[in-house]
This record gives sequence, C-alpha cells and structure tokens, in this order.
Amino acid sequence: MNTFKTMNLRHVLAVLCAAAAWTLPGSAWAQADEARARKIANGVCAMCHGDQGESTSEIFPRLAGQHTDYIVKQLKAFKSGERKSTAMAEMVAKLTEDEMIALGRYYEKMPAQRENVKDTGLAAVGAYVYQHGNKFSGVPACVSCHGPDGHGASNLPRLAGQLSGYLFTQLKQFNKRERTNDNVVMHTVAEKMTELEMAAVAEYLSTK
Ligand code: HEC
Ligand code: HEC
Repeated sequence: MNTFKTMNLRHVLAVLCAAAAWTLPGSAWAQADEARARKIANGVCAMCHGDQGESTSEIFPRLAGQHTDYIVKQLKAFKSGERKSTAMAEMVAKLTEDEMIALGRYYEKMPAQRENVKDTGLAAVGAYVYQHGNKFSGVPACVSCHGPDGHGASNLPRLAGQLSGYLFTQLKQFNKRERTNDNVVMHTVAEKMTELEMAAVAEYLSTK
C-alpha cells in the first residue's frame, strides 16, 4: 500500500516537473546559459582572451564579436585535436557542446575592437589585396568570402579588428597546411600569398 502511494507520488511529481520545464519561458533557459557561459569565461577564458574578449596579446585571438557557429566549430576542433593548440586543448577538454554554444553566444554579443593604424602604406597594400586579391599569382579576393567589411558570417570568421600578429600567424599556418581544420579552403587561399601580402592584409584588417 505504502509502496503504491510512493510510486503514485513519484509519478505525479515527474509529470509536474515535466510540465514546469515546458512552461518555463525560453528566456529563462537563455539566462541560465548566459550565466553558465559568464562563469566559465570569467573563470577560465578571460585569463588569455580578456574580460570582454578583447585580448591585448598578439598570441591570443580576440573573441568579441566573433560568430557563434565559428567559435563552436573551433572549440570542437580543439577538442578533437583537428586544430592543434596546446593551450586550447586543455581549455576545451571538459566543455560540453551546450557550453560551447553558450560561450559562442556570449562572445558574439560583445562589441568588437579595432587597432590604430601603425603603417598607413602597408594597410593600403592590405586593403588592395583584401578587395582584389593578386591576379598575377592567383590569390583570390578575401572580400568574396569574408564580406566587404571583414565581418564574416556564421562559419566565416569575423576578421575586422582582430589583432594583426594573430592574423599573420594564422595565414602562415594555413600557408604551410599546419591549421588543418579548414577543409583546404584557406590553404588554397594562403598557399600563394607572400609574407608581405599576409602582413599587409593583417595590418589592414586589424584597423577595420
Ligand atoms: C592559456 C591561455 C588560453 C586560455 C585560458 C583560453 N584560450 Fe582560447 N586560445 C588560446 C590561444 C593561444 C589560441 C590560438 C591558437 C592558435 O594559434 O591556433 C586560442 C584560440 C581560441 C579560439 C579560436 C579563435 C579564432 O579566431 O579562431 C577560440 C574560439 C577560443 N580560443 C576560445 C576560448 C574559450 C571559450 C576559452 C575558455 C573556455 C579559452 N579560449 C581559454 C589561448 C587560451
Ligand atoms: C572561399 C572563401 C574564402 C576566401 C576567398 C578567403 N577566406 Fe579566409 N576563411 C574562410 C573560411 C571558411 C575560414 C574558416 C576556416 C575554419 O573554419 O577554420 C577562414 C578563415 C580565415 C582566417 C582565420 C581567422 C581566425 O579567427 O582564426 C583568416 C585570418 C583568414 N581566413 C584570412 C583570409 C584572407 C586574408 C583572405 C584573402 C587573401 C581570405 N581569408 C580569403 C574562407 C575564405
């Protein structure tokens, strides 16, 4: 008799809980996700990427304003080892997919940064390469994928305002096929780029 009552009570509770979950407004879930992301970001990621995703070291990319889908793709690739980084492999080891998505949304909402122009001539060369590529060597125009203002979209990363040293390093890695999670696309782009073109486009983009 007692067992029967307990079972019934459990059943009723289960139904009530399910009903509560269904009626919990979407924004409450979103708030919980954001709080979780903020906790991880402040506790772990901020040390290298900055409190506002604004990193000030050329080694650590800026995350503010970066697209959620792109961030999630990279975090998964760091976890699987497809994109190699000793620093990041450790950071993502325990992250779940939901946490990756929450972190992506958290950083995408933050206002993007921009650098001051350091070398006007170099930035002008970069602007040309970005808009037109180099038809003599076969470098395609970056604008065709990353957009007129370097804002990218979804899986195409935002490049505008990213630190020039980081951009330069990534282009070199794509060139040597060391960053291997891009399905060859960026390797084909960077394969024919000279270091001058890489430095120029990096200088231009960091100031956008
Ligand atoms: C100890 C320093 C360090 C910490 C802490 C750290 N990162 Fe990173 N992160 C890096 C480095 C270094 C890179 C660049 C790797 C490379 O050169 O390919 C990077 C790259 C990334 C990228 C790729 C960005 C791009 O533009 O492709 C994302 C996304 C990222 N980190 C997110 C995070 C998140 C989220 C956390 C917290 C869970 C975190 N990182 C914690 C050092 C760190
Ligand atoms: C055909 C489309 C295409 C073109 C053209 C293209 N890109 Fe990309 N680029 C991509 C994609 C897709 C990625 C994301 C790769 C990944 O998922 O890891 C990317 C990634 C990058 C990254 C890495 C950003 C980061 O945060 O780590 C840099 C830097 C970059 N591109 C620079 C350039 C430059 C400079 C040019 C022009 C010379 C260019 N791209 C042209 C598609 C393109």
